[in-house]
Amino acid sequence: MSEIHSKKTYNLRSMIAGKDRFIVAHRGSSGTAPENTISALQHAIEAGALMVEVDVQLTKDDHVVLMHDPGLGRTTNGKGIVRSMALDELKTLDAGSWFNEQFIGEHIPLLSEALQLLKNHAVCINIEIKPPQGEDDHIARLLAIVETVIAHNMQHVTLFSSFHHESLRYIKHNYAGLYTAGIHLPGDKRLPSEIASEIGCDGFVCSLRELTYAKAQDATKRDILMGVYTINNESDFRKIIKYPVPALVTNFPKRIKEYVQQST
Ligand code: G3P
Ligand code: CA
Repeated sequence: MSEIHSKKTYNLRSMIAGKDRFIVAHRGSSGTAPENTISALQHAIEAGALMVEVDVQLTKDDHVVLMHDPGLGRTTNGKGIVRSMALDELKTLDAGSWFNEQFIGEHIPLLSEALQLLKNHAVCINIEIKPPQGEDDHIARLLAIVETVIAHNMQHVTLFSSFHHESLRYIKHNYAGLYTAGIHLPGDKRLPSEIASEIGCDGFVCSLRELTYAKAQDATKRDILMGVYTINNESDFRKIIKYPVPALVTNFPKRIKEYVQQST
């Protein structure tokens, strides 16, 4: 397998068909900048990642923002949960200093800000949709995320992934042209093609620990885009290059891209 060096193929269809290796920056370049921030996206772009993975949450006033946890405590100087705060309040929080004082003043970005930046640089996006939380209207959350992507006309470069396969089934049923990827569930014995035939997904994602030849070969044979997370160091890279896995999901896109280039 070789890497896609050109961005002429700025669409998921050709990336899936091409089967070449490419770098997915996990929560942006989250090893070098605070996760799910504009700085993390910029580092990923500079590193040459062809896709950036992000996590999203909804604000109290239904804006979609980049954030992994429902709670603010780990990655901001705020308290409480994202869903209980309006965008104006969230925008006053510092989402960078927890990582490094170099990033003091970094704000929680809107998904739409991330989409615009990635579009400007011809970088694809992988939006992970978290499972339903509490009493929240799960479908309304899904629609807010999907409609933000459609508003930016980025359907052809967006991969929606989730551990919650019902969300992906819903997306495919209502928006057949969108791309989805099921994330491996602990203990699930199904091959990628079996999951794909049940929920209609285009891709399959698992951790390096869960990776097997059977999964990788099945995905390759059935033209299912396969991604493995997280490939962060040389030891991880030595393992992954033995498998026909195109999407290398990493917190350190610059480092892993260099390994890919050295290996081809
Ligand atoms: O894409 C897989 C990975 O992002 C899922 O785990 O916790 O990093 O969002 P997490
Ligand atoms: Ca994620």
